[in-house]
Amino acid sequence: MKVIQNFSLAELALPTKMLFTGYLLAIGVGLIAAGAQIMLTHGMADGKPGLSVDDIVYSYHGNHDGPNASKLESKLFGSMKDNAPPEVRMTLLKWADAGAPASDWDSKIKPLVVEYCGPCHANMPSIPNITEKSVMDQMTKRDEGATITTLTRVSHIHLFGVSFIFFFVGWIFTYASGFSPVAKSILIVTPFAFLIIDVASWWLTKMNPNFAWLVIVGGFGYSAASTVMIFTSLYQMWLMPKPAGRHKTEPATE
Ligand code: HEC
Repeated sequence: MKVIQNFSLAELALPTKMLFTGYLLAIGVGLIAAGAQIMLTHGMADGKPGLSVDDIVYSYHGNHDGPNASKLESKLFGSMKDNAPPEVRMTLLKWADAGAPASDWDSKIKPLVVEYCGPCHANMPSIPNITEKSVMDQMTKRDEGATITTLTRVSHIHLFGVSFIFFFVGWIFTYASGFSPVAKSILIVTPFAFLIIDVASWWLTKMNPNFAWLVIVGGFGYSAASTVMIFTSLYQMWLMPKPAGRHKTEPATE
């Protein structure tokens, strides 16, 4: 006999319902805000609106707009952002990201740099003439070491912080009725599993851009599971009729 759930959400006293409801609403709004923030910060990384695999690649595969990005990358995310159309900017970023291979310079990269960057960079003595390969080489150097530090920091903050959110959402949901213990267990453990997948996928994507889709799967996975738990819990507290005929002194058992 497993006496874990000895009351249901519908039977809770008003103060407990208010506590759970306040928490779930705040977390729900937080999840929406987090989604919006991801769209705004990562969604435009490839120059096109909406979140795509390319966005994830450019957000995680290396630390492009951070302090350790190459100069070319950080300038293309910063003061040089508007000096090239999105496709050209993207081509230059992809090239920088691939380690600025010399084999692409003459055929693909140099013509773009001459056309879009040359008007200033080849003519203003105060700024580096990046139409020269040797000068551009200085701009594409990158310190890979410290990006690991950034990723480690973000990973542990994310794992610790988000676990708290899922812990309480899951705990409240343990009192939901109408789910088999197995279905409930799966829903409760899903966000934690996807959280670990999500963080692991940042690292995998940093090493290999083909893992970018995992970042999207991870994010949608835990949003979906927590949405089900939040809506079910709110519904059962406020809208669902109380279970009739159960003896108050006898705990419900699973
Ligand atoms: C309208 C003139 C202009 C155009 C066009 C332009 N730049 Fe610049 N660029 C500057 C100026 C001015 C600076 C110095 C100020 C700064 O760093 O923002 C600069 C600085 C840079 C730097 C940093 C150089 C250093 O050593 O600090 C890089 C890298 C760069 N630009 C890349 C590009 C690329 C790539 C393009 C083409 C897509 C481009 N720029 C187009 C004017 C321009």
